[in-house]
Amino acid sequence: MKDGAKYPTHLVTEHLPYGFRHWRPPGYRDRRSGLAYDLIHMQPATTLKLGRRIEGGWLTVRTIKGQRILITGASSGIGEALARGLARQGARVALAARRMDRLKDIADELQAEGHFAFAAPMDVRDAHSVASGIAQAVKVLGGLDILINNAGIAYFGEVVRMSREALDAVIETNIYGVIYAIQKAAPHLAAQHGMVVNVTSGLSKRALPLLTVYAGTKSMLNALSDGMRLELRRHQIHVLNYSAPETATELSSHTLHEEGRSLPPIRRRLAEPERVANAIIGAIRRERRQVFAGAGLLWLALLMPRVVDHVFYRALVLRYGRDTL
Ligand SMILES: NC(=O)c1ccc[n+]([C@@H]2O[C@H](COP(=O)([O-])OP(=O)(O)OC[C@H]3O[C@@H](n4cnc5c(N)ncnc54)[C@H](OP(=O)(O)O)[C@@H]3O)[C@@H](O)[C@H]2O)c1
Repeated sequence: MKDGAKYPTHLVTEHLPYGFRHWRPPGYRDRRSGLAYDLIHMQPATTLKLGRRIEGGWLTVRTIKGQRILITGASSGIGEALARGLARQGARVALAARRMDRLKDIADELQAEGHFAFAAPMDVRDAHSVASGIAQAVKVLGGLDILINNAGIAYFGEVVRMSREALDAVIETNIYGVIYAIQKAAPHLAAQHGMVVNVTSGLSKRALPLLTVYAGTKSMLNALSDGMRLELRRHQIHVLNYSAPETATELSSHTLHEEGRSLPPIRRRLAEPERVANAIIGAIRRERRQVFAGAGLLWLALLMPRVVDHVFYRALVLRYGRDTL
């Protein structure tokens, strides 16, 4: 194992127990990404990994160059920014989503810049479509090192008035899609000591009213990541659960909503998708296990749950009135 160049970086690393390479105090905010760290998972990694010095870091674990990566939901927003960022760092990327025209334009642009990118049609709600998309990606990329489960949609409205179609759409996209993809990708990832990245949300730890089902699917994604990280450990597949902050993407225009209730305009300044994508790429390189946005809300909800309930409720009544709530 002395000749590190012969092996993927993460195979030449040593694992030392009780390292604190990734430890940050709860609520710690990363200045570059603007992300805060999780209160529950306040030790995002329990191992210290020593590797070759690559791309400026002394303890870098995984180099992006040459990694074969499939990104779901790569036709816009965070997924598109991830595809661009990863390809420009030398990864071979497969872009998956339903809007093939958008995927092809992005892939063509990246190819014209000299990067390796191709578009694979995939509807994550359909198990057959996921299977054929992954098979195509493995064939074209020559294997698979990283699966990024980024595709997702939201629903805005009360749970009691939610239609069966909307419920199916949100749960099938945000949960079934992730499970289908991991099931199909796992044998390929195991062969490569690969990685699964699940993109979740700050709402996963404290649901906001009217976004309850969306928050619930993201909570389940947290649980899936925690459990599967251990289930996949014997196959040496690492799982990163990345909770993204509020980001300026097309998510709100894709959000399904209750009849007569539209998403309120967002006046806050949102994170740029490129910035969030860079932070995710950083977490992949360092093989983080959990990065969490929204620690402020989580702190508040833990310390003063009734106050948070009250504030949310008053805000809703003010906006919609008690009767139409
Ligand atoms: N924006 C935020 O504030 C925010 C915050 C926290 C977490 N997130 C999470 O970040 C992820 C990316 O969202 P985004 O903000 O970048 O929104 P976005 O621009 O709407 O991107 C969503 C992506 O998911 C894809 N998608 C949706 N349904 C699909 C399906 N059935 N099959 C395949 N692909 C599907 C869409 O592609 P097609 O329509 O072409 O299929 C699109 O590329 C989501 O999981 C979201 O929950 C977003």
